[in-house]
Amino acid sequence: MIHKMGIEQADGNLTNFLLGPDDEFAMIDEDDIRVYSGAIPVNVATQNLANVAARLAHHEMIEELLGAYLEKRHDKAGAEWNTEEFWASVYSWKQMFKKKRVQKNISPDREFD
Ligand SMILES: Nc1ncnc2c1ncn2[C@@H]1O[C@H](COP(=O)(O)OP(=O)(O)O)[C@@H](O)[C@H]1O
Ligand SMILES: [Mg+2]
Repeated sequence: MIHKMGIEQADGNLTNFLLGPDDEFAMIDEDDIRVYSGAIPVNVATQNLANVAARLAHHEMIEELLGAYLEKRHDKAGAEWNTEEFWASVYSWKQMFKKKRVQKNISPDREFD
């Protein structure tokens, strides 16, 4: 688990993740990566997962991502996880990305980012 290893991918754009033919998963583009000495703090993890989740178009997709994430998070920090805070962060990232697209004069409403 990337967060447990202390890695934060601050640029959660979906083009920074690759899926191979046998469901191998890879994270690329280290430009914005931050590395912590231990597992990343739960608030950073919440914001970071929300940053990735905010690129997904459908509520169900975000729920699936969150479910899969929490399933792997069988640690002490998991108990501190605040799902409300996660969703608030998803919506705030979504708004921020939309604003950026408006500034760049590109279609503000797109399915995936
Ligand atoms: N190892 C790789 N295998 C396949 N495609 C890659 C690989 N590395 C980069 N790419 C492709 O290049 C794109 C941009 O790469 P990335 O490392 O994210 O650079 P950038 O700084 O331009 O975002 C990726 O979205 C992907 O399509
Ligand atoms: Mg990239």
